[in-house]
Amino acid sequence: MVITSNSQNFQELCAQAGKKIYFVPTMGALHRGHTALMKEARRLAGSEGTVAVSIFVNPLQFDRSEDLDSYPHSKEKDLQACETAGVDIVFIPLAEQFYEPNHSIEIRETSLSKRLCGASRPGHFNGVCAVVLKLFMLASPQAALFGKKDFQQLAIIRRLARDLSLPTTIIGHDTVREDNGLALSSRNALLTEEEKKDAARLYRALQKAKSNALKGTAAHLVLKQTKEAIESSSYKVKIDYLELVNQETLEKVDSFSAPSLLALAVFYGDKVRLIDSMEIPSQK
Ligand code: PAF
Repeated sequence: MVITSNSQNFQELCAQAGKKIYFVPTMGALHRGHTALMKEARRLAGSEGTVAVSIFVNPLQFDRSEDLDSYPHSKEKDLQACETAGVDIVFIPLAEQFYEPNHSIEIRETSLSKRLCGASRPGHFNGVCAVVLKLFMLASPQAALFGKKDFQQLAIIRRLARDLSLPTTIIGHDTVREDNGLALSSRNALLTEEEKKDAARLYRALQKAKSNALKGTAAHLVLKQTKEAIESSSYKVKIDYLELVNQETLEKVDSFSAPSLLALAVFYGDKVRLIDSMEIPSQK
């Protein structure tokens, strides 16, 4: 495994490796969700292809400097995880070197980023688009993998690739979950064991919603039942949003006539905000 912190060096290493690069961009603090992406990249690349991973806490996607400062770093553990997953190239730049000190070009997404999580994080997805585009320019990957846990991010990156005709296939990977169904997230560490057990209700509620949708239950009833199932927790839970949206445009829908996504963000206690979602195929 080759490790570099230099952008030009990373670009050269990727160019030498040839066309078949499978790329996993991350911000480090790697957990089983990231490992699943790296292993899938390894499987798709085969022995001929190259797996590249970036570890970079992108300052442009943080709207609050406290969040950036408190973002967890675990470089040695992350590099070990990359090695174990069979990664070939790791790019781990320093923020001061990655962006030019007087960089002045911005990327602006004007539709999908206004909804769901983007509604309360102005500028966040523009920062994600900027870093992903720059990383793609360095790695020139044939394909890049992103988790479906951040479904909105995945939808926006698909849109970025479509609108700018990027020659990279965007692959969404299923959310990796705890045994009880709770979606893996670094935020789970902030929950007590009891809260973690209870928070599995989010996934159960989403599963039930999907099975009811497939049985023909109307969308407004599915939403009502899901809301009730979440709010019946004995813990302090507050729904930030619970929305049925079109999978591609993320616009609100009121039926299952096109592929949709039931997406939610729920506060456990005052601080821990969990997100999850369920894809629901179209019902004719
Ligand atoms: O999902 C993440 O970890 C980040 O948003 C990404 C895609 C690596 C861009 O910084």
